[in-house]
Amino acid sequence: MRFTGKTCIVTGGGSGIGRATCLQMAAEGGNVVVADLHLDAASATVSAIAAAGGHSIAVAVDVGDTAQVQSVIAQAVAQYGAIDVIVNDAAMMTFTPIVETVESDFFHVLTTNLGSVFFFAKYGAPHMRPGSSFVNLSSVHAHATTPNVVPYASSKGAIEAFTRGFSIEMASRQIRVNAVAPGAVDTPMLWNNPNVKSGAEKVTGAIGKPEDLAAAICFLASDDAKFVNGTTLIVDGGRLDSL
Ligand SMILES: NC(=O)c1ccc[n+]([C@@H]2O[C@H](COP(=O)([O-])OP(=O)(O)OC[C@H]3O[C@@H](n4cnc5c(N)ncnc54)[C@H](O)[C@@H]3O)[C@@H](O)[C@H]2O)c1
Repeated sequence: MRFTGKTCIVTGGGSGIGRATCLQMAAEGGNVVVADLHLDAASATVSAIAAAGGHSIAVAVDVGDTAQVQSVIAQAVAQYGAIDVIVNDAAMMTFTPIVETVESDFFHVLTTNLGSVFFFAKYGAPHMRPGSSFVNLSSVHAHATTPNVVPYASSKGAIEAFTRGFSIEMASRQIRVNAVAPGAVDTPMLWNNPNVKSGAEKVTGAIGKPEDLAAAICFLASDDAKFVNGTTLIVDGGRLDSL
């Protein structure tokens, strides 16, 4: 029960890896703030947590909107008093060659994926006690990628650099900051990816379950990882090992 008495905000908690992380943290005693663009999806996660005897609230948020992020943090503090874990899971992709990419679309991806990590860091950290931690979702696309997803790959590479730098800033407050880089994981984001559908991105090796990623995220978020800081844990079933 690694999260007993702890408040855990998980963005993207309505689906896939975020949902599995919410369920695991609640099963281990956490009070979970399930934050998602789609309130109905977040509410479904809350219902599943309640059915298992856990505690959570659903909050609607566009993580790329600083005012909405600040509202999530305020609601978490109002409900539970402090914040112990922030998992930045929500993200988006576009599928367009760079020379055809509309400028606003490029920055929309950057703001949603990377800006959200900044917003939750800036406004969440003041409410976090020593022993708290951040876990940011990167991707194997930060390390090896395919055509037409440059904004997404750029955001994920930057998230790993952000994680490293912010961990240094938080060290004196004993707040850890780490990232997880998933490989192919059985979620809607994987199967809706046009490059996966067309075969441009080959998903021939191991495909992880959302629970496999939740296990890694919960490890990094918990005291089990108290000597792990500023790092990115690649959780891809070995996909990046062979080209
Ligand atoms: N599934 C994979 O194969 C894979 C691989 C590498 C990295 N990842 C990363 O893992 C994370 C989770 O992905 P997933 O596969 O579970 O996706 P998913 O599509 O199953 O779930 C993503 C959730 O994020 C929410 N969301 C999207 N935009 C949002 C916004 N602006 N504000 C708030 N919520 C928003 C969606 O509503 C959805 O509930 C992402 O950061 C993704 O980049 C996934």
